[in-house]
Order: sequence, then C-alpha cells, then structure tokens
Amino acid sequence: MRKAAWLIFFVLLCLPVTAAAGHLEPARDVPIPVQNPQTAAKVELGKKLFFDRRLSGDGTMNCGTCHDPGQGFSDGLDISLNYPTTRNWRNSPTLINVAFQKYLFHDGRAATLEEQALFPMMSAFEMNQNLDFMEEEIRTVPEYVAEFTEVFGDGDVTRERIAMAIAAFERTLISLDAPLDRFLAGDSSALSPQALKGYEIFTGKGKCSECHFGVNLADDRFHVLHVQENPEHLKDPRIAATRRFVAKVYHFEEYRTLAEDPGRYLITKDRKDWKAFKTPTLREIAGTAPYMHNGIYATLAEVIEFFNAGGGMGNPVLKPLRLTSLEKEELRVFLEQGLTGAPITFVHPKIP
Ligand code: HEC
Ligand code: HEC
Repeated sequence: MRKAAWLIFFVLLCLPVTAAAGHLEPARDVPIPVQNPQTAAKVELGKKLFFDRRLSGDGTMNCGTCHDPGQGFSDGLDISLNYPTTRNWRNSPTLINVAFQKYLFHDGRAATLEEQALFPMMSAFEMNQNLDFMEEEIRTVPEYVAEFTEVFGDGDVTRERIAMAIAAFERTLISLDAPLDRFLAGDSSALSPQALKGYEIFTGKGKCSECHFGVNLADDRFHVLHVQENPEHLKDPRIAATRRFVAKVYHFEEYRTLAEDPGRYLITKDRKDWKAFKTPTLREIAGTAPYMHNGIYATLAEVIEFFNAGGGMGNPVLKPLRLTSLEKEELRVFLEQGLTGAPITFVHPKIP
C-alpha cells in the first residue's frame, strides 16, 4: 500500500469505535475479552474441540457440521441440520466475524461466545449432549489433558474451559480484507465500476446502511421486517415441537399454541419485539445462502426484491424503494464482490 493510503488507514483506525448510523467502517482490531485472552495453543485446542464429535450425544455431530468451513461456516440449508429424529427451526448463521457481534443468535439470547458455545451442546435438537458426561469423555483423552494443562495451567477439563477454547478459535474466523475495506481506506479503484454504483445505492437510495453499517455491516439491533414464514415449516410437527420447546425454556406462557417464530419477543416479552430479528453481518454474504432467520430466500436477488418491495406485509420499518432493474443488479454486485475477502485459510485439525 502507498504511504498516503497507510496514513488514511491509520487515521481511520483511530476514529471512535462506535459507528454512527450509515457509516461503513474499514477493518479494525478484533475485540478480545480480558477474561479470555487469545493464545495460539488455546486457539488450536478450540479448533479441535469445535470439530470433535464427542461434543454430541450420539457422536455424529460437531460444531462444524452446521458451521462448515466449506459452506461459509454455515450449512447451506434453509433451516439448519438437527439431532437425529428432530428438526431445527432456524437458519445456521455464518461464524465469520462473529467476534464483532454484540448479541448472538437471531433473537440475541446469548451475549458472549463463551456463553453461547454450551447452548448447541445441550440443545435437544442440536447436539443433545450431557455436559457432565462430555467433560468425562474429554478427560479420558491424554492429548486433551496435556493441551488443557498447557493452555489453562492444569489438566482440569471443564465445560467453561471448553467454551473458552472454542470461543478463542471462533475469534480467528475473520473477514476484513474485502474490496470495501480497501475502498474505505482510500483505494478508489478497489470496487469495480458496477460494485461502486451498488455501494452508492447501498448507502443512498437503497437505505441499506441505515441498519447495515459499521465494520461488520450490522447495527447490533433487532428489527421487525416481517420476513414471511415458510408454509412447509409451519406444517411440520417436529419443527413445532422445537419451537414450543425453546419457547417453554424461555417462559413463554402460551408455548403449546405458539404457531410461528416470535423472534426477539421470546427474550424481552416486549410487544414491539414480536418477530424482531437481529441484523446479520453482510460480510462474505455471497457464500452464506440461503438467507434470513428461516432461510426463506435462496439468492441475494430475492433478498433485494424483498427490500425493494418494502419488506414483508405490514412491517413497521421498511418502505418500497423503487429501484430499477439495473440498480438492483448493481446492488447485488456490490454485495457479492465488495464484501468478499480472501478465503479464510483453513486446515482441518487432527482430532485426538
Ligand atoms: C445442528 C446444527 C448446529 C450445530 C451442531 C451447532 N450450531 Fe451453532 N447455530 C445453529 C443454528 C441453527 C443457530 C441459530 C439459532 C438461533 O438463532 O436460535 C446457531 C447459532 C450459532 C452462533 C450464533 C451466531 C450469530 O451470528 O448469532 C454461534 C456463535 C454458534 N452457533 C456456534 C456454535 C458452536 C461453537 C457449536 C458447537 C459447540 C455449534 N454452533 C453447533 C446450528 C448449529
Ligand atoms: C431496518 C433495518 C434494515 C434495513 C434498512 C436493511 N436491512 Fe438487511 N436485514 C435486516 C435484518 C433485521 C435482517 C434479518 C431478517 C431476518 O432474519 O428475518 C436483514 C437481513 C439481510 C440479508 C440476509 C443476511 C443473511 O445472512 O441471512 C441481506 C443480504 C440484507 N439484509 C441486505 C440488505 C440490503 C441490500 C438492504 C438495502 C436494500 C437492507 N438489507 C436493508 C435489517 C435491515
């Protein structure tokens, strides 16, 4: 990079970290919590645990089953995979740049990666594992005990340490070198002419950056867009069981008659959060189809149509955009090219 570009990059790095609505931000340091510092050995241990099938009750699944590096750390399905005989109810989000997220899950029900990691292990419809049993299973593996000793000072294998190591690994899944970053850092030729037009629509007429802004193109908030329910999913009794089970765990009084995904309401019980979902990151979006909390859209063109039409029926936030076909195409090119960085180099670990 030229000197001037470095200087601009450096100045941008020094700007306040809270992004204002509408401002896209170039790359910045990955936030690491003081309680769980990153070390190379911890990341390696976390990577092994992430891909270890011992974390699931029947030994068939690991975290990578539904967050597959070959599928943009998601699983390519509308609603995610599931524990045998059950069905999941939501789309598996990518884990790329998850380190930047303030809330985790589509409804934001977890706040830290350390807290989040134990949910899928315990979940009856995901890994369905008993955590006491899992700790004993991992403790029987001498290589793991040696690695826990190296990372944590003694060989005690606890669920908290397992979660810390997995979280450390997740914080290495970073995409911050997309053409958009180079463009924001001053390289005016980083976006193709078509992608540049798309960027202007994204931040202008399309109003996308009202919610998709900051370094991760996400506002850390929840919005009621009324993405339609998939009628096939509404008919499936196994999905109904999953939905009611989660609702019951979150003290939703009428869980037995709950017929749709209540979104953020499940957590806050605040009427305004009924069917509100988290704004997802748009980084690496070209590789993480299908889209939305229920995976209802298979392509970015469909998502753009959704926003162009003013979102789902009766939603309180979006208005029709009246984009021309050319503008929709330019927006798509920006999302596809502008937000895709170099592939994350990834070597599958050897599981002890
Ligand atoms: C059976 C599929 C499946 C497995 C296995 C699985 N996940 Fe997930 N993961 C999902 C789904 C589906 C969601 C979204 C659930 C929701 O929002 O309610 C999710 C959400 C997440 C999130 C939140 C991401 C975000 O953007 O909010 C993280 C982090 C995560 N999973 C990490 C893990 C880890 C770590 C493991 C292994 C311990 C794991 N997952 C195992 C399907 C799975
Ligand atoms: C009012 C806030 C808001 C605005 C404005 C907005 N989005 Fe979103 N976007 C969201 C939320 C919230 C979701 C998740 C909805 C869900 O899962 O049901 C989302 C989802 C998406 C997704 C799917 C991401 C994924 O991984 O599933 C894409 C792509 C997207 N938006 C692009 C755009 C584009 C392009 C525009 C402008 C035309 C735009 N958004 C405008 C809030 C917004």
